[in-house]
Amino acid sequence: MEANGWIAVARLAELSAGSVRGVDVAGRRIVLVHFEGQVYALDARCPHRGGPLDQGELYLGALVCPWHNFRYDPRTGENIFPANVYPDDMPQLREQLRAAACFPVRVQNGHIFVRLSDPPSGRV
Ligand code: FES
Repeated sequence: MEANGWIAVARLAELSAGSVRGVDVAGRRIVLVHFEGQVYALDARCPHRGGPLDQGELYLGALVCPWHNFRYDPRTGENIFPANVYPDDMPQLREQLRAAACFPVRVQNGHIFVRLSDPPSGRV
């Protein structure tokens, strides 16, 4: 189902609290995260080296990539780790800490909708 750019991607009942699930949306792999009562959608390709964030897990409020354990805030896509331990005076290292792209999510009548038409919100 699609209306005004919103695409139904899953039923809310299929995404239990604290769970992570990958879905294909218009040819793009997206990871849905059910965190603190809200559903968030991020690009499933890890900004570090392309690892599968949809195969990651939620740990201590962060989406953890299974390849090198980078951690992302599911609400914003911001890198939590290793950003918190990288020295500020080494910009060549910080280049690796791009945020994961996020997409708008709406939940209506038990269905999760994602809109891809807006530019992803990932930031460096
Ligand atoms: S590819 Fe995800 S942490 Fe390296």
